[in-house]
Amino acid sequence: MVEIPEHLLERSRQRRSALTGEGGGSAAPAESGSSTPAATGGSSSAPVAAASTAPAVPQPEPEPEPTPPWVEAALTRKKVPWWAASALTILPLFFIVYAWTLGEPSQGEGPLALGAETYAVSCAGCHGGGGGGGAGPALNGGAVVETFPSPAAQVAWVALGSAGFQDAGRSTYGATDKPIVGGMPGQLDSLDPTEIMDVVLAERTEFGQEEFDISVWEDGFEDTLNELVPDQTEEFMAVLDEWNTTPPTG
Ligand code: HEC
Repeated sequence: MVEIPEHLLERSRQRRSALTGEGGGSAAPAESGSSTPAATGGSSSAPVAAASTAPAVPQPEPEPEPTPPWVEAALTRKKVPWWAASALTILPLFFIVYAWTLGEPSQGEGPLALGAETYAVSCAGCHGGGGGGGAGPALNGGAVVETFPSPAAQVAWVALGSAGFQDAGRSTYGATDKPIVGGMPGQLDSLDPTEIMDVVLAERTEFGQEEFDISVWEDGFEDTLNELVPDQTEEFMAVLDEWNTTPPTG
């Protein structure tokens, strides 16, 4: 043993490991005292990896651990699904629309909806929530359209009320010449012409089942209003002009 010099042993080890890949691994423990434990540990835990390890390099190989499946999955997974990009693009628009709807009353803002609101506040107390009547006569079941085939006459009636009509020298109202008993308050004191137009529209639509028709509204409109509410005729006409352009179906 003593006769073989260390450098020859070293050379034969290198030759052997160069010829047979496996040889290097088995030779490693004998190489040097200090690195022996690490080298044997490495070769026993992963023999395949040890084959490629050059024996001259004493460091244990940390690499060859197989990648765990969950890490593998994380690496190969697409980070952002294809649809998420377009969804994110639309997101700001969604918030704009959302904020916009917050400002809108749930019923909408068309003349019909506003008229229904006005009716509930100013008229339902006497005429009933569904137009069934109370202190005032019933308006539903077509009654209101029967009394006022002309929307203009109804607008004037609602604007002036019982006392206003009597002041204008009338003792009856409507196409059926109903005698004025009294008790219907003139609405011009509390509502503006637009609100009166809206509430009349709502009554005719909801209780009279009448569909809006601009020619029915325009019939005698200016004359009737000029005769009974001359001061506000222009304002009423302006509303009707608007309805002519944009029919008040909402
Ligand atoms: C204080 C109760 C009262 C309120 C409020 C009231 N009315 Fe009247 N209304 C009456 C009475 C009473 C009559 C009948 C008047 C008469 O004979 O002189 C009447 C009659 C009417 C008529 C005629 C109906 C028919 O066929 O004879 C209409 C249309 C009408 N009201 C609409 C309205 C509208 C629209 C409002 C709300 C803007 C309203 N009224 C608010 C009491 C009321």
